[in-house]
Amino acid sequence: MSVLVTGGGGYIGSHMVWHLTDAGEDVIVVDNLSTGFDWAIAPEAVFVEGDCGDAGLIGRLIGEHAIDAIVHFAGSLNVEESVSDPLVYYANNTAKSRTLIELAVKAGVEHFVFSSTAAVYGTPDSYPVSEDAPLRPESPYGRSKLMTEWMLADAAAAHGLRYAALRYFNVAGADPKGRTGESTRNTTHLVKISCQAALGKRDGLTVFGSDYDTPDGTGVRDYIHVTDLVAAHADALEALRAGESNLVANCGYGRGFSVLEVVETVKRVSGNDFAVTLGPRRAGDPAAVVASPERIVERLGWTPHHDDLDRIVESALRWEDALSRRNRH
Ligand code: UFG
Repeated sequence: MSVLVTGGGGYIGSHMVWHLTDAGEDVIVVDNLSTGFDWAIAPEAVFVEGDCGDAGLIGRLIGEHAIDAIVHFAGSLNVEESVSDPLVYYANNTAKSRTLIELAVKAGVEHFVFSSTAAVYGTPDSYPVSEDAPLRPESPYGRSKLMTEWMLADAAAAHGLRYAALRYFNVAGADPKGRTGESTRNTTHLVKISCQAALGKRDGLTVFGSDYDTPDGTGVRDYIHVTDLVAAHADALEALRAGESNLVANCGYGRGFSVLEVVETVKRVSGNDFAVTLGPRRAGDPAAVVASPERIVERLGWTPHHDDLDRIVESALRWEDALSRRNRH
């Protein structure tokens, strides 16, 4: 039995590949390296450079490697970019997922774990947000992911494929063993940007909006350590293999931190000060998005081990520093 991981050279995908190879799984990675890196992929995995929407390639890999599960990370993830270039998002996130699902069904790959997003909720009426909350994505990004959730549900009903769609909240941090981390160029993510500012890799940061209806006026998010997130994927895969039914579940801790709290944590943990400017709101940002993690805890017995903002920031800082050294060579 082998696991096919798409996007295994990316931020979350590369952590998943390490997790799976650490557990002794046979892993095949497909990544087109448009945003991922081959050096981020665990050497025990078989790496094939290619596109997850390439039906010929994926069909051949499924045939050659006795794949029983696909863990699908590959996709585009910038909300703003999805507004200006929606068709790229529907191609990369929706159409390519459709191809993969079809190939899985045709070849009898039984299990599919999909990387979904809290963006399917849009602006929640209240928080913590449960999976039964209204689904009102506000961007092509969110819609492109929700369409894939729907395709999975329909394919599961019609063809018996079993799946888990995991809705990520704000993923941050890096592998505690320092083997991979968030290496994405031109990141938009707060924790990474703050770490770059703390290490002098950028001139401070701008807080996008300080007039929200939140305790300190800045946006509140549920930051989840990438190690706990990939453990949730592994738990989901184990449950599917054990015959459990389909699952759509939030991945977050159920508590929020404001932008200013994150910035203060990065300053304290790094011991470095940096310039912070209060700026206007970023288009499309909800005030507060915090998960209710009850379902995933109940269904999978998921137990987070890194629910601590200081530890998330420590690991992100360590990775950012290692990345500077790597990029200098
Ligand atoms: N922020 C700043 N300054 C920055 C960057 C971010 O103030 O330079 C703020 C944002 O306004 C927001 C918070 O920090 O309040 C977190 O922003 P991120 O860009 O790190 O993350 P988002 O919450 O915007 O996005 C995340 C995922 C998306 C997903 C979305 C769903 O990265 O993929 O959650 O809610 F779509």
